[in-house]
This record gives sequence, structure tokens and C-alpha cells, in this order.
Amino acid sequence: MKIVILGAGGRLGAALMREFRPKYDVVGFDHAQLDLSNLEGLREKVGATTFDVLINAAAFTNVDACEIERDRAFRINAEAPGVVAEICNEKDAKLIHFSTDYVFDGEKRAPYTEEDQANPISAYGESKLAGEKNVLAVDDGHLVVRVSWVFGPDRPSFVDAMIKRAQQDEKIDAISDKFSTPTYTHDIAEMLARVLDDWSRRAPGGLGAGRLHGILHFANAGKCTWQEYAQWALDCCRDAGVFLRGRTVGALKLSEMTRLRQGSGGQAPWVARRPVYSVLSTAKYTELTGTAPRAWREAVNDYITRFYSKK
Ligand SMILES: NC(=O)c1ccc[n+]([C@@H]2O[C@H](COP(=O)([O-])OP(=O)(O)OC[C@H]3O[C@@H](n4cnc5c(N)ncnc54)[C@H](OP(=O)(O)O)[C@@H]3O)[C@@H](O)[C@H]2O)c1
Repeated sequence: MKIVILGAGGRLGAALMREFRPKYDVVGFDHAQLDLSNLEGLREKVGATTFDVLINAAAFTNVDACEIERDRAFRINAEAPGVVAEICNEKDAKLIHFSTDYVFDGEKRAPYTEEDQANPISAYGESKLAGEKNVLAVDDGHLVVRVSWVFGPDRPSFVDAMIKRAQQDEKIDAISDKFSTPTYTHDIAEMLARVLDDWSRRAPGGLGAGRLHGILHFANAGKCTWQEYAQWALDCCRDAGVFLRGRTVGALKLSEMTRLRQGSGGQAPWVARRPVYSVLSTAKYTELTGTAPRAWREAVNDYITRFYSKK
């Protein structure tokens, strides 16, 4: 199976490159090699490549910058995925496109299912939702995977920032009234391998959609606040023998993030609104694959043991 990965230099894309290279014939394009905001260049470069599956892990992911550069957000997160879906159809190839829990407004207090109404409250969320729609309007046999709070070794994320801060300072705090679920890039790669397997088993001589198409939610199991997430990461670091100055994560209110000034607590104030609650239900994934994602605490512990442990 020949796979093309867009966003090959990103947190998720780089992880997929690393994990898929031993199993599949993989070609990656990073931002420098392929700029999604240049739709003509995108058609030319991807059009000239042969593949069975394209994985789009490229996106304009800076939530606050998307609010300011709205047009750019829509070009990269909405228009480009539509063009990518068209190229895939011309090649009779399948597309796996990544999206986000930020398509929801966060008003619910139970995990969001694929059937729940999306109602983004930021330009980032709006542009990502438009991207989902553009992809599935071209062909509903493509797969849109919504993930949340992605972490992994290929690019620092919230959890790495918290560990770094705890290595430098005694005082650390994180938001205690915003809920979602961390998702390990390694686990996303395993999930995708299952999808690819499902597609190739169901269509001898080519790829079929199988049961996995349309929108699918994937995240590690459970839910937490950023404070709980950070505290667990520090607890895992302590057990793994990682030096820390700060060991307890204090609580910060979501409302305070919009009032913070540059330099306050090392954080910049937020421009965009974020959903308060964006836990994704993975019941559909479990029903279709017969497997459940592992708990977020286990995934974070695995990451820290593997990439931070000095023992
Ligand atoms: N990170 C999260 O917590 C999270 C949560 C929910 C959903 N997601 C989704 O998961 C997917 C992967 O995100 P990630 O965590 O891997 O984010 P990431 O590390 O920011 O990766 C995104 C990649 O896209 C590239 N990119 C940005 N603009 C581009 C352009 N115009 N042309 C080509 N490439 C461009 C970036 O390159 P440069 O850095 O060089 O610009 C980066 O390599 C995205 O669809 C994102 O929306 C992420």
C-alpha cells in the first residue's frame, strides 16, 4: 500500500511517518515541500504522485492565529482539504483527513458523538468544520478523524510545556475548568493501521471504504482538565526519576486566560474562544473495530516513561 502523508513535519504527521515507514510504502510532504495555501501547487505536486491512501495531518493549528488570519485559516483548513479530496478521487485513492474536538461549542456535559451537532466558537473550529464538509461532499467514502489534545515526541505540546515549566519553576498552574481527553500520536497511528487493514481486507485488488468512513472520533479513554493532565504528567515524571522543581499543579480558571497579559505566568492571553467541554465519545470506533482506546493516564505514562525517563 502506498501512502502519502501531508504535514509530515508536524506532531502527528511526523509520528505517522516514523510509525508507518516500516510497514508501508510512505512518502511525506512537510510544509516546506508543499504549501497547502497554494492550491495550484497542491494540485501539481500531489497530482503527480501515485498513492492508494493520502493522510492529511497538515493544518493551520494555532487557534489564536486562526482568529486573526481568518482567510488563511479557511484556505489551509477548509479549501485545501476539499482539493485534496478531489485529487484522491481522480486517483481512485482514499483520504484520511484529521479534524478536531474544537468543532463543538462545549455546551454539552457528556461525550460528543459523531451525530452531535457541530457548532464551532472559533475561526479555527469553523475552518476545520468547513474542511470536514468539503472532504465528505467530494466523497463520503473518505474518512474524517476528529482527535483532541494531541501529544507525542515529535513536537512539544501542552504536556511538554508543563514538564519544562516544572523543571524550571516551583509554581505551576493549569486550567481546572476545561475538559477533554489527551490523545497520544502513537495510539492514533495504531488506530489508523486498523483502518488501513479494514479497507484492504474488504476490497481485494483495491481499497474499499469498509465500515470506516465519514466522521470518526478518536481519543484516549476518559476525561480530564488541563490541571489534572499536567498533575498526572508530573506524577509520572517523579516515578520515572525526572528532575522537577515544581511538583504540584495549581488551578487556573478558564476565564483568567482571556485576562492574562503577555509575560504573566509565561503565558500569552487567548484571542479565540475555546470549548469548555469537548470530550469525544469513541463508542463508534469501538463498535466498528471491536477495540477500545486505552486510558489517557496509561498513554501519558507510556510517553513519559519512553521519552523522559532517566532510569
Ligand atoms: N494538536 C492538537 O492538540 C490537536 C487537537 C485536535 C485536532 N488536531 C488536528 O490534528 C491534526 C494534526 O495536528 P498536529 O497536532 O500534528 O499539529 P501541528 O504539529 O501544528 O502540525 C500541523 C502541520 O501542518 C503544517 N502546516 C501548517 N500550515 C501549512 C500549509 N500552509 N501547508 C502545508 N503544511 C502546513 C505545519 O507546518 P509548520 O509548523 O511548519 O507550519 C505542521 O507541520 C490537525 O488536523 C489538527 O487540526 C490537533
